[in-house]
Amino acid sequence: MISLRGVNKTFARRGGAPLQVLRDIDLDVRQGEVLAILGASGCGKSTLLNLIAGLAHPDSGSIRIAGQDTAAFTDWRSVGYLFQDDRLLPWRTTLENVSFGLEAARLPRAERLARAHRALESVGLKDFTEAYPHELSGGMRARAALARSLVNQPRILLLDEPFSKLDPAMRAQMHAELLAVQAEQGITVVFVTHDVEEAVVLADQLVILQPRPGRVRERVALDLPRPRLPEQAEVAERVRQLRVRV
Ligand SMILES: Nc1ncnc2c1ncn2[C@@H]1O[C@H](COP(=O)(O)OP(=O)(O)OP(=O)(O)O)[C@@H](O)[C@H]1O
Ligand SMILES: [Mg+2]
Repeated sequence: MISLRGVNKTFARRGGAPLQVLRDIDLDVRQGEVLAILGASGCGKSTLLNLIAGLAHPDSGSIRIAGQDTAAFTDWRSVGYLFQDDRLLPWRTTLENVSFGLEAARLPRAERLARAHRALESVGLKDFTEAYPHELSGGMRARAALARSLVNQPRILLLDEPFSKLDPAMRAQMHAELLAVQAEQGITVVFVTHDVEEAVVLADQLVILQPRPGRVRERVALDLPRPRLPEQAEVAERVRQLRVRV
């Protein structure tokens, strides 16, 4: 579903040498698979998601979605992206923010609102549909952004540290919610996290990037049975093994 080959990305810097952020990245994510990306701050994780989302282009190498180069790909509505900063529009209510993505889909207003209501209910925000973003807590904003990324029923979902602002109980609840929707709709997911436990619970495949320039240091297949819970011995053991390697 997503395939990267030999991807390089360098940014120009004012008054300094160009900064190579990604070097020679090869990645493959099959349809319905969940890939976790881990790595130190600044190693290029968000840049990698931006490239997959077609918001930036590699200097060399290729990025394909469903076999099509991102430069030629047009079905961007099927790709959901939850940005690292939530990018909620401050002048829209939570409900309007979530239904925003559906406007481009030219759905009738009543259908848009019904879907947005359902999405907000699934992330525990049904009592805050009329609140503006500044009236939400950090964790609530994160959940609103998650609802917005899911409401379009994307085939591919890119998530940049989607759960980092949630408390442990809410995080576990959102993990279960995401996995349920993901399995039901066969969504291909790429998500960035700093949390090894989260990666082990959610992902089929884990990639650890190494900084400056960002390169793939390690790939780990996570073939543990599902559902996975942090307290299961196998899960806890994998987390323990991986923590020392990240
Ligand atoms: N548009 C840009 N122009 C110039 N430099 C950029 C741009 N975007 C990112 N960078 C640089 O690329 C490097 C990687 O940034 P990126 O945001 O991809 O890191 P990250 O792995 O997501 O980090 P974090 O875990 O802190 O979110 C950083 O050094 C950053 O300064
Ligand atoms: Mg980032």
